[in-house]
Amino acid sequence: MTVQIAKDVYWVGAVDWEVRNFHGHTYHTHRGTSYNAYLIVDDHITLVDTVMPGFEDEMLRHIAEIVDPARIDYLVANHGELDHSGAIPAVLARAPQATLVHSKRGVDSFGKYFPNGWKRLMVGTGDTLALGHKTLAFLEAPMLHWPDSMFTYIPEDRLLLPNDAFGQHLASAHRFTDEVEPAILWDEARKYFGNILVPFSKLIVRKVEEVQQMGLQIETIAPSHGLIWRKDPLQIVQQYVRWSSGETQPRALVVYETMWGSTADIARAILEGLTEAGVEAELFAVPQTDHTTVVGALLEAKGVLVGSATHNRRPLLNITALVEDMIGLRPVNKIGAAFGSHGWGGGAVPVLEKGLNEAGIEVVQDGLALTWRPTPEERAQAVAFGRAFGERIKESYGGSTNRTD
Ligand code: FEO
Repeated sequence: MTVQIAKDVYWVGAVDWEVRNFHGHTYHTHRGTSYNAYLIVDDHITLVDTVMPGFEDEMLRHIAEIVDPARIDYLVANHGELDHSGAIPAVLARAPQATLVHSKRGVDSFGKYFPNGWKRLMVGTGDTLALGHKTLAFLEAPMLHWPDSMFTYIPEDRLLLPNDAFGQHLASAHRFTDEVEPAILWDEARKYFGNILVPFSKLIVRKVEEVQQMGLQIETIAPSHGLIWRKDPLQIVQQYVRWSSGETQPRALVVYETMWGSTADIARAILEGLTEAGVEAELFAVPQTDHTTVVGALLEAKGVLVGSATHNRRPLLNITALVEDMIGLRPVNKIGAAFGSHGWGGGAVPVLEKGLNEAGIEVVQDGLALTWRPTPEERAQAVAFGRAFGERIKESYGGSTNRTD
């Protein structure tokens, strides 16, 4: 069903209730997602963004509820990734006279994905396109999150179409953020930022400053995934700035992979110590918990303790993959430590510490490497290890565990 989001502007995208893996399995979409496309009915009929391949018919059916897709004059593609650009060929097959509009930086991605003979217009920050009663103003947003990314703004509607930015992977029968359960909305917005946008934190802060300096008035933010922010839309912008700045809460994650249960025993003892120190803590076993959930939780946590059994002198494979993910993301303003159990030789703990360092996470205490099954004395040592880490977290907040925001 199409939904009007501003005068003569319609959501005409598709909801993907089934998808559970995204970005080549790098993101677990626990609640599905949507591919949002927006139709502007003006003297020049314009479609902003399209949908994932496989959803072309659904999008074209939505467009046809409002206008004949053959009448589209401009197809604005804010980003070349195929979940938004994958249906460009289907649209331009129906409207071959239409002009494809993308950013100047999109010359590479769009050029390689779509080496077709379509009419093209490449735009940059400050360029505008008059549609009749409405204007499209373009703002390049390179590396948010691809070089080709850009935002489209309609000043007459105070409507920002920022593509991936401010989105959530959340399938819903609703189209607006104020129509869904806030806890679910924010859980997905946090997970989305933590798993996709963290590496671009500095750029996000700069882009928000640029938008503020441009004096853009924003009443609605309509991203390309999930729900549209129409009620207090700047709340998500402000939250992005807080997340980008590395604002954390006095909380710790204990993440581990165990072989015969000993590393799990140590993890639970560490959790006990953190709790004794008065720090909120959460335990995640991998692979039972997927990495998207752990990384999403890490966004607002000050500390992370990573543990593994040793196998062939290395950590187990699932925790290794999680640490690799952290290295790529380089989360901001975190402290960490490593732990684990081994039979002989060991090796997992120093490898985990090296990974934490490489991820930019400050290792604040020597790792805890125990052997075989922890004795009662060693279990008490693990509790003390957790307590000491909890104290380090509290020190970061001046000895308090009150939230910083
Ligand atoms: Fe939703 Fe970068 O694609």
